[in-house]
Order: sequence, then structure tokens, then C-alpha cells
Amino acid sequence: MPRLLETLRAAQKTFSRKFAICIVLSCAITGAANAQSESAQDPAAEPETITPFVLPKSGPFEPSGIKIENNAAISDWFRSAHARSADEAFRHWDEEGEVDERCASCHSGEGFRDFHGLDGTTVGAIDGTIDTGGVVDCGTCHNAGLADVREISFPSGLVHPVTGVEAACLTCHQGRNAGRDVSAKIDGLPLDTPDASLRFINPHYATAGATWLGGYGAAGYHYDGHEYSGRFFHARPVATCNSCHEPHTLEVAAEPCQTCHLAESIADIRIARQSYDGSGNLRVGIKSDIEANAATLMAMIEAYTDQVADSPVIYDGSHYPYFFADQNRDGAIDTADGQSVAYASWTPRSLRAAFNWKLVTADPGNFAHNPVYVLELLHDSIMDLGTAIGIDVEKMNLRR
Ligand code: HEC
Ligand code: HEC
Ligand code: HEC
Ligand code: HEC
Ligand code: HEC
Repeated sequence: MPRLLETLRAAQKTFSRKFAICIVLSCAITGAANAQSESAQDPAAEPETITPFVLPKSGPFEPSGIKIENNAAISDWFRSAHARSADEAFRHWDEEGEVDERCASCHSGEGFRDFHGLDGTTVGAIDGTIDTGGVVDCGTCHNAGLADVREISFPSGLVHPVTGVEAACLTCHQGRNAGRDVSAKIDGLPLDTPDASLRFINPHYATAGATWLGGYGAAGYHYDGHEYSGRFFHARPVATCNSCHEPHTLEVAAEPCQTCHLAESIADIRIARQSYDGSGNLRVGIKSDIEANAATLMAMIEAYTDQVADSPVIYDGSHYPYFFADQNRDGAIDTADGQSVAYASWTPRSLRAAFNWKLVTADPGNFAHNPVYVLELLHDSIMDLGTAIGIDVEKMNLRR
């Protein structure tokens, strides 16, 4: 159990605050900020690419007013994950020298604009070469062309109508695989027979948008015979990404929540009058029930792969593909030629449960984005595995 909890925590990314970076901003306004901090940043930055002064295209404005406003936005953004250009999310393609076209729409502002045709190219495709070094820059969200993006396609096949900047958030925070990708792989295979052709299917990361849309978004693996709750409408003042997340810092302030929720902190918020995890504890936040059920599900996956598939799995959130083999049952990941051996004894039953587990835990804000839906996914996955390993699941007192 401690390992499972650690894993959950590891999924909530640690913030590395080292700004050893060279940020290439596409947004002209930021030129001035760059010039100011240039010397403190990457010495390899080419000075000639930096525009020292940029005048507004129209005006007149009160210059001091403009400057203060943008400085606040820039410094807020600069501290956020969107600007963290040293992170794996932006450096992954360094060796190749360009961002893979399958990845560019979400891992670079330039790629995002190319994908949506905001640079005048084909809509819905990456046409040009996307250089490495891009981040989620100002021009990703501050782009007049975004107003023409009226719908966003999801990996589940859903096409969802959008307005304004939500088009941007949902483009990138939707994940890359959905339950239907799992269904396609396991369709027709015997449920409990390991199949070496099955590989872990990763929903991808920071999948907030997918969680938020719930059963309607169909990001999870949906078990036959069950209904899944749709989008989490919540309440009008908190109905959009940016009503909770400050768009530059990306942080969520607790005070606005407290107008409706009596809770010390965001993690303590609870409305539900039933305990989902069987603990009977209604004094903790709904987040606690979700984490407990996620830990139970992981324990079930471990027990099932050991007992039914006869090949125990070990989860390690620090490297892809996260699920590894422990065929010799020594409690450590097997290695071959110095490499960790990826788990290759998936059955349809374990694969779909592992997918749901990863989808839920890939979104650290799941309890605020759609607590109902993630509890349903966890519940159904636990029941399915529990029954297969002969556990009296009713006695666990879990609620759906
Ligand atoms: C639909 C948008 C989208 C697409 C397409 C996409 N990614 Fe991502 N990816 C994200 C988001 C959002 C994150 C940020 C997760 C975080 O670090 O919080 C991410 C994170 C990552 C990370 C960092 C994971 C970590 O542990 O920090 C890697 C590596 C990555 N993606 C690789 C890829 C590769 C390779 C491709 C193309 C084959 C790709 N991504 C395509 C949205 C996407
Ligand atoms: C992830 C999307 C996103 C990115 C990236 C982004 N912004 Fe914003 N920005 C917004 C949203 C959303 C608003 C609020 C607009 C509204 O209230 O209608 C906003 C508002 C602003 C405002 C108005 C004042 C304020 O702070 O609310 C300024 C100025 C601004 N942004 C500048 C920038 C600059 C400069 C950058 C790059 C350093 C940047 N933004 C990056 C989404 C973004
Ligand atoms: C072009 C793609 C893109 C767009 C558009 C985008 N994001 Fe992100 N977002 C990312 C990536 C990539 C990361 C992870 C960066 C990292 O790991 O350094 C991220 C990180 C985040 C994080 C923090 C996650 C963490 O690991 O700390 C939040 C919160 C977030 N985005 C919310 C939003 C919201 C809200 C919007 C819309 C206003 C938005 N994003 C628009 C790609 C995008
Ligand atoms: C009801 C408020 C609310 C709404 C609406 C909301 N979020 Fe969140 N989000 C949260 C909370 C709370 C967290 C947990 C992290 C925290 O406490 O800061 C979170 C976490 C995240 C994270 C992970 C941050 C991390 O630390 O890794 C991302 C990414 C994210 N949200 C994106 C979005 C996107 C995109 C949307 C719109 C589809 C959205 N959120 C809508 C409240 C909200
Ligand atoms: C205008 C009132 C209002 C505000 C403001 C508000 N909420 Fe809520 N919240 C609700 C209502 C109503 C529900 C129940 C919704 C439902 O179940 O459909 C709820 C449910 C929740 C739940 C699920 C609780 C459970 O036990 O299922 C979480 C988590 C939550 N809100 C987080 C937040 C966060 C985080 C914020 C601030 C960013 C916030 N809320 C702001 C009204 C609000």
C-alpha cells in the first residue's frame, strides 16, 4: 500500500523551479521582458533574435498602464508549467531537432497554431516543421484566430463545441487514448488469458479536459451494462477551466470555492453524504475517497496479475511504459540487458482496469474536474477484478 500512495503522489508532479531557460516567445509583447532578463538566462541565447522594444500596433495607450498589465501576466506565466521550457514535456524531441508532428499540437505554441490553421495553413494538421524549444507561449491563447475554432475532437471520437480560450485548454488537455482504443485491442479476446500482443495503453498526461467531460467525453473504458455520468456541470461560477485556474499562474485559489463549500482547503471539499471507499468517513474531502479507491484498484491489479495471469506486475510511475514484469516474484522489476522489462502478460481484464487507473491518476485535479465519473470508473474496475480473483466485493462496502 505505501508504494501505491507514493505512486499517486508521484503523479502529482513536483515543481522544479529552475529557470535555466531560453524561452522563445512568439508573442511580441514579451520581447521587452526577454531583453530585461536575457543576461540572467541561457547564455547560449542568440542576442540578435531578441527584440528589445516593441511598440503597440495601435494606440495611443497610457504606456505605463500597458507595461504593468503585461508585466504581471508575463511574470505569472513565466512561473507556470506552460513556460517551463526545461521540462521533459518540451525537451523530449531535442535529439531529433524537431517536434514530431503527432505531438506538436500540444507540446509547442507554434505547433498548436499550425494544427488549428492559425498560421494560415491547413486546419487539423501539422504542415510545417515544428522546431524544438517552443512552450505554451502567449500567442497560443491570445490569438484572434481562436475565435474561429468552434469544436474540438477528442480521442474518443467526440466532437465537442467550444467557445473562446477553452478551445486551447481542451486541445491540449484531452489525452491521447480513450476507452475505445482499449476496446479495439481486446475485442473478442478471452478475458483472462494473457496475450503477448497486448501492450499497456497510456491515456497520456494532464488529461483534465477528458475527465471533466465524463461519460459524455468517454475517455475511460466503459464496462458493458453500466451507465456513466456525463460532464461535471458543477455550478455556474466554476463552469470553465479559467473560472478555477488563473490562466497565467494556472493555480486554483481556494477562497472563491469557500463561497459555496465549507472546507479549510480545496482537498477537504465534500458534498457527498455517502462514503465511496468503504471507510465510512465523511469528514474527509471527496479527494480522499478517490485516492483510496485508486489505491484499492492498484492493489487489485497487482493481485490479479499475480493470481490469474500468473505474472505479477510492478508499477513504476517514473518511466514509460510504467507497468513492468516481475516474473521471478522477487518484488523488483525484472531486467534484461540492463533494461527494465515491460509487462507483457496483459489480459483484456487487467488491461482495461490499468487503463482506467492510469486515466484517473493522470489527472491530479480529478476530484474537482469530475469526481462522480472517476469514482464510477474506479468502482467498476475494482468490481470486475475483485470478482475475477474471488474476493467478496460486496463486503468492501464500496459505493458507485
Ligand atoms: C492532445 C495533446 C497532446 C499530444 C498530441 C501529445 N501530448 Fe504529450 N503531453 C500533453 C500534456 C498536456 C502533457 C503535460 C503533462 C504534465 O507534465 O503535466 C504532456 C506530457 C508529455 C510528456 C512528459 C511526461 C512527464 O512525465 O513529464 C512526454 C514525454 C510527452 N508528453 C510525450 C509526447 C509524445 C512523444 C507525443 C507524440 C507521440 C505527445 N506527447 C503528444 C499533451 C499531449
Ligand atoms: C493558457 C492560455 C494563456 C496563455 C499561455 C497566456 N494567457 Fe494571457 N490570458 C489568458 C486568459 C484566459 C486571460 C483572461 C481573458 C479574459 O478575462 O477575457 C488572459 C489575460 C491576459 C491579459 C489581461 C490582464 C490579465 O492579466 O488578466 C494580459 C495582459 C495577458 N493575458 C497577457 C499575456 C502574456 C503577455 C502572455 C505570455 C507571457 C500570456 N498572456 C499568456 C490566457 C493565456
Ligand atoms: C499548446 C498546448 C496547451 C494549451 C493550449 C494549454 N496547456 Fe496546460 N499544459 C500543457 C503542457 C504541455 C503542460 C505541462 C508542462 C510541463 O510539464 O512543464 C501543461 C500544464 C498545465 C497545468 C499544470 C500541470 C502541472 O504539471 O503543473 C495546468 C493547470 C494547465 N496546463 C491548465 C491549462 C489551462 C486551464 C489551459 C487553457 C487556458 C491550458 N492549460 C492550455 C499544454 C497546454
Ligand atoms: C472547479 C474548479 C476547476 C475547474 C472548472 C477546472 N479545474 Fe483543473 N484543477 C482544479 C483543482 C482543484 C486541481 C488540483 C490541483 C490544485 O489544487 O491546484 C486541478 C488540477 C488541474 C491540472 C493538473 C495540475 C497539476 O498540478 O498537475 C490540470 C492540467 C488542470 N486542472 C486543467 C484543467 C482544465 C484544462 C480545465 C478545463 C477543462 C480545468 N482544469 C477545469 C480545479 C478546476
Ligand atoms: C457557486 C457555488 C460553488 C462554487 C463557487 C464552487 N462549488 Fe464546488 N460544488 C458546488 C455544488 C452545487 C456541487 C455539487 C455538484 C454536483 O454534485 O453536481 C459541488 C461539488 C464539488 C465537488 C465534489 C464534492 C463531492 O463530495 O462530490 C468538489 C470537489 C468541488 N465542488 C470543488 C470545488 C472547488 C475546488 C471550487 C473552487 C475552485 C468550487 N468547488 C467552487 C458548488 C460550488
